[in-house]
Amino acid sequence: MCGIAGYIGYKAAAPVLLAALRKLEYRGYDSAGIAVLEPDGRLSVHKAKGELSVLEKRLKNASLFGTLGIAHTRWATHGEPSDINSHPHTNMEGNVAVVHNGIIENYAAIKLWLENRNVKFQSDTDTEVIAHLVTYYLKEEESRPDIKDENVLFNAVRTALSKLEGSYALAVCSSLFPEQIIAARKDCPLVVGLGQNEYFLASDIPAMLEHTREVLFLEDNELAVLCRNNAALYSTDNDRIERKVSHVEWDAGAAEKSGYPHFMLKEIHEQPGAIANTLRPRLCRDAAGAPLDIGFEDYGVKLDFANIERITLTACGTAAHAALIGKGAFEYFARLSVAMEIASEFRYCNPVLGEKDLVIVVSQSGETADTLAAMRLAKSRGAKILAITNVVGSTLAREAGSVLYTYAGPEIAVASTKAFTSQLVCLYLLALKAAKERGVMDSDNFRAALNALDKIPEGVKTALSALEAVQRFAARQYNKNKVFFMGRQFDYATAMESALKLKEINYTHSEAFAAGELKHGPIALVDNGTLVVALATQRALFDKLVSNIREVTSRGAASVAITWQGEAEKLFSKVCDEVFALPPVPDAFSPLLSIVPAQLFAYYCAIQRGNNPDKPRNLAKSVTVE
Ligand code: M6R
Repeated sequence: MCGIAGYIGYKAAAPVLLAALRKLEYRGYDSAGIAVLEPDGRLSVHKAKGELSVLEKRLKNASLFGTLGIAHTRWATHGEPSDINSHPHTNMEGNVAVVHNGIIENYAAIKLWLENRNVKFQSDTDTEVIAHLVTYYLKEEESRPDIKDENVLFNAVRTALSKLEGSYALAVCSSLFPEQIIAARKDCPLVVGLGQNEYFLASDIPAMLEHTREVLFLEDNELAVLCRNNAALYSTDNDRIERKVSHVEWDAGAAEKSGYPHFMLKEIHEQPGAIANTLRPRLCRDAAGAPLDIGFEDYGVKLDFANIERITLTACGTAAHAALIGKGAFEYFARLSVAMEIASEFRYCNPVLGEKDLVIVVSQSGETADTLAAMRLAKSRGAKILAITNVVGSTLAREAGSVLYTYAGPEIAVASTKAFTSQLVCLYLLALKAAKERGVMDSDNFRAALNALDKIPEGVKTALSALEAVQRFAARQYNKNKVFFMGRQFDYATAMESALKLKEINYTHSEAFAAGELKHGPIALVDNGTLVVALATQRALFDKLVSNIREVTSRGAASVAITWQGEAEKLFSKVCDEVFALPPVPDAFSPLLSIVPAQLFAYYCAIQRGNNPDKPRNLAKSVTVE
């Protein structure tokens, strides 16, 4: 969702800020804006609805020289996308500017209160109240005889924050205080980047990687004061906070396209490496290099599965599909009964939880509002929490206590791909560890499973070699108006993730069905305009699936199967128009491979249709508001 950038230092701020906004584009936005404090003391504000290029065009003749500024990409919540509703928002005098990510829930009451004090509003946004509220308290602060100049803006922002309900990451600058940017966060991410006599602010690390890898993560209810020669953190009670500087390992290139036309295609191709990075450091090996055991303890994750009575997995979107596969893995390997709850439902369902419960919370970004709310609820009920996330320093990572990181590297495309398969790796490792600790898997089977997992990165490389065949198939099928994905057992969850990918970037009405459910209703939808994709990796159920495929093809549907090379490929070639065959692995690990052709299919359909797969309409990468 919205992206925030800030800069104070010695360089011209505008190019630094625009480059940062480019790096935040993946979060999703519909307008952009920038405010730069010019050497003549003016706050120069420029905003434009649409792509960043529209703003850049407008800035061509703006001659911005200032070395302090804030900028924003907006994803509309209150007020339509328009120039006026874009951020930064200013006060009536035009000397205070604010950018904001989140939602001010009580903005209507504050707006009325300010209007009664003769404040005139320009936009329909909730954010504008912050600019006027800060101005109101600036006037109060300035009338205090004891106040030091350097504290005036900070105090005014602090007081304004105390009136706000809702969520925010925000940055404020003012031409009255030309040596400071004040930033604050509550429930939305914000990072301060530390340079040499220059400081950066952003919603996410890739926006500053080009300049620095030393960062301070703001936590909820904290403010940052950025000056030209230092940056300091404070609580809303004005206590100075000493935060350890975090060093970011991601290299700047990881957030670039590296020759690929889109981040999504790059990230699909990065899966063998992402899976290996997430898996292999956690495998303990014998002298011959064969995997022997799983070593989470090195990572500070100590789980006593013998004393856990119930596991609940919770997440949203793609991460929820990974969680559903995780549920299957725990049941299959560890014979543990596990629930999977969509986080946006779980947070409101008054769940029965206690100390014997383990809640595993899965989130690529670690910032999804519903997922964080679910985690906080489970924590408040005394459950043990384990987070699986890709982002070091994310809110989820900091609050969960125990974290198992996916080492997928930054995922920029809105449609999640490498994060999904890396999340699966963590979940399989946990399920196998639980199986071993609970004594339900003998050591031969345990080692065989680890051995099979260890070979997955090479299997994914082979799966990627279907790329051209998938591309040709997508060229023929991309404009089908209905695409149904069906499968049984592990394939059903993969079907759900496959359907989501196609919805997100090709805008196709695609649905996933448990193949056995077809006859209970969905088959009424099948006609000769339908494509059915059969996920066919569960060997014991091949015959059933073949019958399901016949049922849909006899009603005019086109069909494709994703299955194993060899006998399975021959079997499904007899009933389907097309088959994508994968190198065989055990049934339970199939989603790690079978999702690959489905990801490629969604990608190439979107390309055929002329959609930008990296920036699907209406979607944001990180859903930080409810
Ligand atoms: O960052 P998270 O994993 O918590 O995000 C959850 C969902 O918003 C996310 O997976 C979304 O569904 C993706 N766009 C799917 O491709």
